[in-house]
Amino acid sequence: MSQMIEFDEAAAKAVEAMYLTPDVVGQRARVLDMLSPKPGERIIDIGVGPGLLAQDLARLVGDTGRVVGLDMAPAMITMARTRLAALPQAECVVGEATALDFADGSFDAAVSTQVYEYVADMPKALAELHRVLRPGGRALVLDTDWRSIVWHSSDEARMARILDCWDGHLADPHLPAKLGPLFRRAGFTVARVEIVPMFAAFWQPVSYAAGIMRAIHGYARGNGAKYGLSEADVQEWYDDQLRLIERGEFFLSVNRYAFLATR
Ligand SMILES: C[S@@+](CC[C@H](N)C(=O)[O-])C[C@H]1O[C@@H](n2cnc3c(N)ncnc32)[C@H](O)[C@@H]1O
Repeated sequence: MSQMIEFDEAAAKAVEAMYLTPDVVGQRARVLDMLSPKPGERIIDIGVGPGLLAQDLARLVGDTGRVVGLDMAPAMITMARTRLAALPQAECVVGEATALDFADGSFDAAVSTQVYEYVADMPKALAELHRVLRPGGRALVLDTDWRSIVWHSSDEARMARILDCWDGHLADPHLPAKLGPLFRRAGFTVARVEIVPMFAAFWQPVSYAAGIMRAIHGYARGNGAKYGLSEADVQEWYDDQLRLIERGEFFLSVNRYAFLATR
């Protein structure tokens, strides 16, 4: 039974901090390279979050283009609006990925990174994505497959329970493996798929690994009981990671997958 995260003001700040780390800055560069936005294009960012990718997109489409950042969480929209305030070609709206309030063919391109894994009705979300793109329009979708994780621990069984618990914060923690067929069924052609690893062979305090470790610690403290994890188990898991960090034995790798599809 999944227990989604509420993207309130505190979560918005945590996501922003994690998404400003070099790992996720690098991810955005890969996404932009795959999508190659052009001046004058109209692009929608579905699940815009803190607005970091939308900011890059707005600069690239320039003042003859248009970027719409959409998110269901008002706290995220407030943050994205502040970030995009100096870019009049960008606007941010509260909205739902499965019910896009835009006319057919409104956009030349769309991005949605780390969002669809939270969406329960993917056929509906992709039908909406298809509808709002013009014929020939491009969609860039990136999500994590949590089955791809390699995370060193002194207690593998406890680590497995922690990761089972974390899977519960998503509608589908294994979405990427299904995205190709889902895209094709929605009428898209998948043009390119790339792997985007979040990889730390040693500890760095300002990193995706540090951010995700904090996020999982907080989530498991509140939701671990359903997975047989007491608060003490969660704390022992966290303390074990701190000891591994101190000994120079930290290792974490998990893959994100970027799909470029055309309508
Ligand atoms: C992990 S953040 C990713 C933010 C941003 N796309 C990025 O990569 O920087 C996930 C975002 O998706 C939004 N979201 C999740 N489900 C959504 C839905 N069904 N409709 C619209 N937004 C959604 C959340 O509110 C949150 O801002």
